[in-house]
Amino acid sequence: MLGFLIYLAHLADASSSFEQACLAFRPETIVPGATRNILDYVRSGTTLTFPDNDATCNRGSQIVSANLCRIALSIETSPESSITFEAWLPETWTGRFLATGNGGIDGCIKYEDLAYTSSNSFAAVGSNNGKNGTGGVPFYNHPETVVDFAWRSLHTSVQAGKAMVEAFYEKPHTNSYYLGCSLGGRQGIDNADKFPEDFDGIVAGAPGVDFNNLVSWRARFFTVTGAINSSDFIPATAWKTWIHDEVLKQCDAVDGAEDGIIEDPALCAFDPSTLRCEGDESTNCLNNKQVEQLRTIFSDYRYPDGELIFPAMQPGSEVGAVDRLYAGAPFAYSVDWFKYVIYNNPAWDAATYDFADARTSESSNPGNIRTYPASLPGFESRGGKILMYHGQQDNQITTYNTNRFYEHIKGSRTYEQIDEWMRYFRISGMNHCNSGPGAWVLGQAGNAASAGVPFEAPGNVLRAMVDWVEKGVAPEYVEGTKFVNDTVSLGVNFKRRHCRYPLRNVYIGGDYGHHASWKCI
Ligand SMILES: *[C@@H]1O[C@H](CO)[C@@H](O)[C@H](O)[C@H]1NC(C)=O
Ligand SMILES: *[C@@H]1O[C@H](CO)[C@@H](O)[C@H](O)[C@H]1NC(C)=O
Ligand SMILES: *[C@@H]1O[C@H](CO)[C@@H](O)[C@H](O)[C@H]1NC(C)=O
Repeated sequence: MLGFLIYLAHLADASSSFEQACLAFRPETIVPGATRNILDYVRSGTTLTFPDNDATCNRGSQIVSANLCRIALSIETSPESSITFEAWLPETWTGRFLATGNGGIDGCIKYEDLAYTSSNSFAAVGSNNGKNGTGGVPFYNHPETVVDFAWRSLHTSVQAGKAMVEAFYEKPHTNSYYLGCSLGGRQGIDNADKFPEDFDGIVAGAPGVDFNNLVSWRARFFTVTGAINSSDFIPATAWKTWIHDEVLKQCDAVDGAEDGIIEDPALCAFDPSTLRCEGDESTNCLNNKQVEQLRTIFSDYRYPDGELIFPAMQPGSEVGAVDRLYAGAPFAYSVDWFKYVIYNNPAWDAATYDFADARTSESSNPGNIRTYPASLPGFESRGGKILMYHGQQDNQITTYNTNRFYEHIKGSRTYEQIDEWMRYFRISGMNHCNSGPGAWVLGQAGNAASAGVPFEAPGNVLRAMVDWVEKGVAPEYVEGTKFVNDTVSLGVNFKRRHCRYPLRNVYIGGDYGHHASWKCI
């Protein structure tokens, strides 16, 4: 009993000395160009609120589940630009450093990822990527903000974060990691290219690589579908019901299992002509122009001379894609990018988008944001590791682009050679970065469901990366979890092992929800 009381007293002491160290810390003296906005000791279980955070970020509060020192700085990046930066330094620290990414064209700190990684004892940093909110107006006539967004905010955060970690804990970090998806996936790949020393391990989900052409591909959908009230517009209900049903009819059984999940959409040459209205049919069928719309959407996007702009959308993603890309309205991120970054012209009309705009986007390459390296020699030679994953029914970035990028980096090497340092996992039944009918919970981010999987490989991609970097154990597959109704408290519905590219999952018999029923071939 006495021993226990002494133990408790010791814990209280430890916490109060950590708290004192936190409150006495002066990060602004360590980071050049920094102004301190927040320095707070935050106790595990606290719900932080962010009253100043831009409302479009939709991140009003965050539960913190570790005792930590929270630091928020403003850091100058040029005479006319600055970033908003946060570091969450946990009391229980493994020695690992981690930077989080952003999304869309946003300037939103992912507080949920800071909470997730700091609770797993990483010293975690994140930034607003140079501007606040999800819209593009802050880029208008602010080329330095575009540079922050393209690469400088992340690199600045890494430099500031590593220096602060060393000063705060009085020893340098051991290994450094990156976790991001979508634009965040692109940031990870781009950083490996431009600053190969920043990270030892990069987890890059659904990476928005070849960014200039991604912007164009997304802009084009509005010109394909037409406006929501135009005569051949295909309504969302059609996409979500009988068109999706036909996709499943043609594509779902290719992997051997009719479970509503297409393991590898690349194996299905979806033919929309089966949906053409025959005779006097007029419901649940498409006219000729609508059949052509589907053909266009599910084909590679090319210039008239055949040069590729961006790969086809993969079938299976339509249920989610109707909400944004096929909604009969201009895709907001692309519109803002053309208006405020490419053309500096708020009057630019998304309905006029054409091949000339695609050429301008690619050639202007603002802030050198392209991110389509053919190799990453600096990163590879220093022993850096990259784990990419991509949902096979991603409704915002086609998964075929990541297949293409992986092959591009691989070049003339064998898969065994590239797998030494860069592995790619295709996550069946996952939408853009998360959600979907498949086993999509992988520990890839701090969303509610991620809390349901332990911080252990192979069910957690971040842990898998740590094991790869620190123990040399490379992931052979990633095990995804599907919770009942995506609700952790309702328990696990099923798990599935997602194969390492170019292997694909094939059903070999038995219960669809069982590992032994599937094989990576
Ligand atoms: C972003 O918002 C923060 C408050 O959350 C503010 O301090 C900062 O100045 C803003 N940055 C820009 C570029 O407007
Ligand atoms: C669609 O709606 C917009 C605005 O509501 C209008 O300007 C346009 O003329 C309409 N187009 C058609 C084809 O009805
Ligand atoms: C899951 O969600 C469906 C549809 O919302 C509902 O009908 C069902 O009862 C839920 N299952 C559980 C176990 O809560």
